[in-house]
Amino acid sequence: MPGIVLVGAQWGDEGKGKITDLIANDFDYVVRYQGGNNAGHTVIHGDRKLALHLIPSGIMYPNITPMIGNGCVIDPRVLIEEMEMLEREGFSTQRLLISGNAHLIMPYHLDLDGASEHRLGKNEIGTTHRGIGPAYQDKSSRIGIRVQDLLDEHIFRLKVEAALIEKNDVLDKIYGMATYTVDQICELYLPYAERIRPHVTESSQLLNQALRDNAWVLFEGAQGTLLDIDHGTYPFVTSSSCTAGGAVIGSGVGPTAINKVLGIAKAYITRVGSGPFPTELPLEDEIGHLLSSVGGEVGVTTGRLRRCGWYDAVIVRYAAEVNGLTDLCITKLDVLSVLDTIKVCVAYEYQGKRYTTMPGQQTAIHHATPIYEELPGWKTDITGCRNYKDLPREAKDYIEFIEDHAGVPVSIIAVGPDREQTIMRRWKPRD
Ligand code: IMP
Repeated sequence: MPGIVLVGAQWGDEGKGKITDLIANDFDYVVRYQGGNNAGHTVIHGDRKLALHLIPSGIMYPNITPMIGNGCVIDPRVLIEEMEMLEREGFSTQRLLISGNAHLIMPYHLDLDGASEHRLGKNEIGTTHRGIGPAYQDKSSRIGIRVQDLLDEHIFRLKVEAALIEKNDVLDKIYGMATYTVDQICELYLPYAERIRPHVTESSQLLNQALRDNAWVLFEGAQGTLLDIDHGTYPFVTSSSCTAGGAVIGSGVGPTAINKVLGIAKAYITRVGSGPFPTELPLEDEIGHLLSSVGGEVGVTTGRLRRCGWYDAVIVRYAAEVNGLTDLCITKLDVLSVLDTIKVCVAYEYQGKRYTTMPGQQTAIHHATPIYEELPGWKTDITGCRNYKDLPREAKDYIEFIEDHAGVPVSIIAVGPDREQTIMRRWKPRD
């Protein structure tokens, strides 16, 4: 049962798209299992640079079947636009499979995402305003509308009618916003049905059969461990299970289908949106500014500047535990080449207590003082290195330091944005 999960080990934006694209060729299926078009990754394919938000990166390979699993939330307008963009770029989307059980992001979800953020004021989460939270909220409240509902006009009308009873009240009475009629929503959404219909499938059954037939399945996580609804820095999180366990729930396979979990972490750390960030270096800080500009740290989905900070070994150790990581991939190591010395946070201190793993108390994370160890930099261009032995001694020491603190082998190292700018150190998916 060769199922492998690829998961973000920090707050998202770790460069998962590049790594998925790089290793995808070993797989028959690439499955997105959570989130929606809040995700965004840039895939550099040949001389082309494509930004994908919803469709798994595997779409670029004719031998791979990409799948959007039941754990995802889908804005059909965005999905169709992304399919059309790919077709225009010469990538067929015919093989794309979509779970009939995935939930739809509805127009009122977009309105409510913005309105609730506005109401939170200075406590806002800093969401991507893509309707993600409200869509998952309705899923849990059992008034969500699924992809399969869209394919049956009668059912779709009934479900929209039921949902609008509550949604219109909230829009009107709580937020003073415009309401919707069933006809308005049907007029907007029913035309999407025919475009999507050929792709909708019973994805769980199909995947389980594929695994029985020894197909290779890559479960592609979106966002990152610390944005997970259960294991992240709640409430400054997204509304889905980004951790490796989410792969099982969000695709309908059993935990025994997973035999490797590859965690992706940047050689430093970034976060977009609000919430605690112990190793943050403000943009006014020389190093913070350097990481932001050299690393090109701008969100693919929202265009927001990402907050930057030193690599936090406490976070990656925690990610190793909650995901059961078997391998680590360190991305953007080349960005650190500009620094004389590099700090790594190895513990937190709060109220006289030292924490080497994530404090259980949210307050402790908010007020944690990072304890750093400082390592020498290498100050050499490493973007041409293709083998581990080619890296300068200081860069190898840095990787081995990370590895020791995470308790997980660093199997892949990215030294630049292109596919080729990667060191496959110990990655053996077939072991
Ligand atoms: P939402 O997922 O739009 O509800 O946003 C919740 C939080 O997750 C916000 O802090 C977002 O900035 C963050 N977030 C959502 N998607 C991503 C992503 O793909 N990368 C990084 N942060 C994300």
